[in-house]
Amino acid sequence: MKDKKRTLVTCALPYANGPVHIGHLAGVYVPADIYVRYLRMRGEDVLYVCGSDEHGVPITIKAREQGCTPQDIVDRYHKLIRDSFSGLGINFDIYGRTSSEVHREGAAEFFRKLYDEGKFVTRESEQYYDPEAKTFLADRYIVGTCPKCGNEGAYGDQCEKCGSTLSPEELINPRSKLSGAAPIKKKTTHWYLPLQDYEQWLREWILDGHKEWRTNVYGQVKSWLDGGLQPRAVTRDLEWGVPVPVEGAEGKVLYVWFDAPIGYISNTRELLPDSWEKWWKSPDTRLVHFIGKDNIVFHCIVFPSMLKAYGDGYILPDNVPANEFLNLEGDKISTSKGWAVWAHEFLKDFPGKEDVMRYALTANAPQTADNDFSWKDFQARNNSELVAIFGNFVNRAVVLTHKYFGGKVPACGELLDVDKELLAEIPALKESMEKNLENFRFREALRDAMGIARAGNKYISDTEPWKVAKTDLDRTGTILNLSLQVCADLAVAFEPFTPFAAERLRKMLGVSLFAGSDHRRGERVTVNTYKDGEGCALHTGSVPAPGALVLDWELLGRPQILPAGHVIGEPELLFAKIEDDQIQVQLDRLDAIRAERAAREKAEAARKVAPQKEECTFEDFEKMDIRTATVLEAERVPKTDKLLKLTIDTGMDRRVIVSGIAEYYSPEDMVGKQICILANLKPRVIRGIESHGMILMAKQGDGTMRFITPQEVLANGSQVG
Ligand code: MF3
Ligand code: ZN
Repeated sequence: MKDKKRTLVTCALPYANGPVHIGHLAGVYVPADIYVRYLRMRGEDVLYVCGSDEHGVPITIKAREQGCTPQDIVDRYHKLIRDSFSGLGINFDIYGRTSSEVHREGAAEFFRKLYDEGKFVTRESEQYYDPEAKTFLADRYIVGTCPKCGNEGAYGDQCEKCGSTLSPEELINPRSKLSGAAPIKKKTTHWYLPLQDYEQWLREWILDGHKEWRTNVYGQVKSWLDGGLQPRAVTRDLEWGVPVPVEGAEGKVLYVWFDAPIGYISNTRELLPDSWEKWWKSPDTRLVHFIGKDNIVFHCIVFPSMLKAYGDGYILPDNVPANEFLNLEGDKISTSKGWAVWAHEFLKDFPGKEDVMRYALTANAPQTADNDFSWKDFQARNNSELVAIFGNFVNRAVVLTHKYFGGKVPACGELLDVDKELLAEIPALKESMEKNLENFRFREALRDAMGIARAGNKYISDTEPWKVAKTDLDRTGTILNLSLQVCADLAVAFEPFTPFAAERLRKMLGVSLFAGSDHRRGERVTVNTYKDGEGCALHTGSVPAPGALVLDWELLGRPQILPAGHVIGEPELLFAKIEDDQIQVQLDRLDAIRAERAAREKAEAARKVAPQKEECTFEDFEKMDIRTATVLEAERVPKTDKLLKLTIDTGMDRRVIVSGIAEYYSPEDMVGKQICILANLKPRVIRGIESHGMILMAKQGDGTMRFITPQEVLANGSQVG
């Protein structure tokens, strides 16, 4: 922790083509925010950078669908996403955008230098081209059938159904997303970064040098390297993006995954035009990328290779704590299917519950494996943990202090065993929390912080100061004194996890928090943010009043942080209960999506038509004696799931047919029904029963079967043909 002077924390730049959802929050932004708040409380020099990723094909496709420009799309979502983050207390030093002038210049310059130094190779290849729309079809502009799973809507770069990475050439029956036309192949030239040249260096840097990285990250890197790296195209034939800044590259832009990571640098430059380099080119800076698992290859292999190729002292990430995915109510989150909880909608539906979401997402963080978010769990985390333990404890301590001691911290008298036990627990939890936070184990760190609240809540329940007050006010004072000390610990410990509640708690306790240093004035401040040339500037209103009591991380767990006589504020509700009806609204919304999806899938599946069979002659057909008949009796064939034994009246005779329709009909369904049968089928013995014919059934695309019945009741034995 202390080995480097400063820490640069980046969060994956979200695509500005849709709102962010809880999967993004749990995987990237909440953990990063916890980490940054923690480091700042410890006085570390931290820069926290993010922004919108505003290029890429999905954005232009969306613009086309909505009949607006790509710029309109990114303007809309840039604002929405930025506001969602700040609504959740995630305040970057800068939230930039890759459509900014600084970025376009920076990314072009980056390309240009590699180009001039011969770091790219060019290749001519045949790529899909839409002859109607007169344009090349990069990535998601081409759709077709996935060769791995048969999904007919697979994209040129990926199949969303089975998750395979694809190249356009692999698609079966490719079509243009623009015109629907069958594409033709046309020659085009692109620039490639020869990743294989960096393979050995990557092995040494990561596989030998960063064994401490998370196993999911390390493992993915290893499997990429073991699979052998290939040259990777860094340009595309598209209009939307950073134009390729060299002669003869008309109609070409930088590939979005080439320009976007440079966005981290551009955004730093935008904020600190004169001093950005110390964040990117000093060995004293520790770089940490927070990302989701689908971004690992870009942050561990591609971007580092780009930086290595560029040289000039660029540093490499110290760690890349990538998370797995969060599911929602047991199903994969899917933007296209609407299966998500959107940050901006959550903020609207649950005002004042920002901390609860942060808490629930951290408690269920998908750190080592995919994890699940459910609304019931969200409610339970609030009602039985935040309200019942943390909130309840603080409320009792503050209310009782007002009741018995006029809102002043009472003196601490002689300590009993129960007191000493409480005091011993906190430093241990703090130490564990530090280890967990510094190693990106946020779920475990939260459990430690909650351990402090649990200890406090148990202490106040066990010692019952409201009862003791009837006989021994001094002892009551000691109990409340210690309880208030624990409240102060919580006001520090929960700052990274539930910053809004931590702030309310500090107000209740009449204290401030040191959360970073002001480089200009050396003052202790509550929140910091960077502005150029000034080091760290202040958020308005956050400078503690002269003489105020300022807590900091080091004080957590120390005895008597709040001195006897210190005046605390009025009690305020730290957390409020969430009622069932509020949760039900959310569950109903998801149920409706599920029902709609199921209906659509069923309809789609049923629509699939089996291909026509081989030609037959009229004589072939004439051989079949098809007749109407009525079911007289029906029963299940014992020990089978699929078979019914039907006794039928064929007009000619009474006979038995064994039929595999029990999956679709019960015996009661069948009795009395008129059906059609193939009457002259050679008898067969099925499960010991001789079957004389076959019922005519229609099989739908999804495999389900229904029997064929005349549209009015006919005489049994009528010939069908
Ligand atoms: N927009 C990408 C995604 O959402 C992340 C880009 S991260 C950056 O998957 F490094 F390229 F900026
Ligand atoms: Zn597939």
